[in-house]
Amino acid sequence: MTKFKVVLTKETWPAAMERIEQHCEVKCWKEAEPIPRTVLLEWLKDAEGLFSTGDVKVDEDLLSNAPQLRVVAQSSVGYDNIDIDACTRREIPFGNTPGVLVETTADLTFTLLLSAARRIHECWDFVKSGNWASNNNIPYGVDLFGKTLGIVGMGDIGCAVARRAKACGLNIIYYNRTRRMDDHVLEARYVDFRDLLHESDFIITLVPLSNQSRGMFGAEEFAQMKSSAYFINAARGSIVNTEALYEALKSKQIAYAALDVTDPEPLAGDHPLLSLPNILITPHVGSATYETRNRMAHLAVDNLLAGLGRLALPACVNPTVNYPK
Ligand code: DGY
Repeated sequence: MTKFKVVLTKETWPAAMERIEQHCEVKCWKEAEPIPRTVLLEWLKDAEGLFSTGDVKVDEDLLSNAPQLRVVAQSSVGYDNIDIDACTRREIPFGNTPGVLVETTADLTFTLLLSAARRIHECWDFVKSGNWASNNNIPYGVDLFGKTLGIVGMGDIGCAVARRAKACGLNIIYYNRTRRMDDHVLEARYVDFRDLLHESDFIITLVPLSNQSRGMFGAEEFAQMKSSAYFINAARGSIVNTEALYEALKSKQIAYAALDVTDPEPLAGDHPLLSLPNILITPHVGSATYETRNRMAHLAVDNLLAGLGRLALPACVNPTVNYPK
């Protein structure tokens, strides 16, 4: 049986890899640093499938170098690195991994909120450095109960965060492109973006990165928040103007930020954000549990194998070119 030629931009989980290798001849980048563009383009010359994790830009230039490509499968829900129109023009279906990471990402997002509110990493530093024994200057946090949480982007993950917030006694307001018809179930009140900025004690953003959301939180938006506001970003770094966030935190225009995503990403060890006392940053680990990353990898393999066999991808972002055509 002739195997399909497939390029992997990095290694995936063993069971998912086994499934790919059963059907495909694989070129896989195994080094710690990202695959160089020249290598990727060379490998794609005769490839029928591309499997990635959001670590490479798929654009016109890449696609024009891959004339045999039948499918692009990415193990992530976000796809701001993909030129979907370019894929569609070439009739290449693109598959992502929605659904399977919702609860995991909501857990991490809510963890950021709780950890920031109760200063968990400062508390740990306080104990670890031996300060506990010699002074009682413990880090004080703030309550959640009875406060207002503003969620910007009420998709599946936003709703899963809202459920957690409700259990903690937070009042929930949200802003979304369109109002959700089921918001009464979450007891969440739909508000204008500006009202959300004014009213929230905690703001969580979960909007996908697009031309509309890029830079959506800048100097003007931080200026409208309460000086006691906590700002949490678990979506994409470029939704926020990093310099404006730095200034807002440094001048105490807002109280605190907790970020799972940054711009740039990854952050260099000497980045100015890291010099601030009122920030907590995790390294883009929203979906990073063993179970969920495995589920994502398997869904991405489902998409890959379906596309190679010219069958409908189970999760296709550009359905007009999904198989069978
Ligand atoms: C996603 O799936 O989009 C997560 O952010 C991981 O990249």
